[in-house]
Amino acid sequence: KKVVVLISGNGSNLQAIIDQCHGQDADIVAVISNKADAYGLERAQNADIPAQVILSKGKTREVFDGQLMEAIERHQPDLVVLAGFMRILTPEFVRQYQGKMINIHPSLLPKYQGLNTHQRAIDAGDAEHGASVHFVTEELDGGPVIVQARVPVFDDDAASELAARVQTQELRIYPLAVKWFCSGRLIMNGAHAELDNAAL
Ligand code: GRF
Repeated sequence: KKVVVLISGNGSNLQAIIDQCHGQDADIVAVISNKADAYGLERAQNADIPAQVILSKGKTREVFDGQLMEAIERHQPDLVVLAGFMRILTPEFVRQYQGKMINIHPSLLPKYQGLNTHQRAIDAGDAEHGASVHFVTEELDGGPVIVQARVPVFDDDAASELAARVQTQELRIYPLAVKWFCSGRLIMNGAHAELDNAAL
């Protein structure tokens, strides 16, 4: 299955998907970044995956999303993967890819939608935190959850330490979700993600 990955930064999730999925269930046909300095662009180049930048700075959401959609449609992907992509997409864009666009969010959704999730979990005194892979819908960080991973929160945790513990799990569960979708065992059915349990 053809996959397009959208990034904005380091691309550690992109790298995990390249290492664990590319050339097997998934064929990453393009990496697109909205930041010219995203290290993930180098990761794509190192893997001989076409990479391009579409700047969002100074553009309205509608203009940027239109340019992004045009670039994506050239590849006719089966799946769009948001991997550290730090843009809120317009409802029109989301509708276009509903059911075949996924995202990873560093919290146990539906808790802590939005930013600064690790500090919020620490401040709330949560004993557990984690990461969630979900289908993207018009609700920000709100679509049907596909898979989650839990990590403990220690009393003396700094946000950076908790973030590192969460990211270790992200790099494990995101490739799983990509493999399940690309092998036809994961679909979005209305408000739910449906996984053929033979996939487990
Ligand atoms: C990740 O930790 C993820 O939770 C969030 O963006 C962060 C950076 O991702 N979506 P990456 O290293 O660019 O993949």
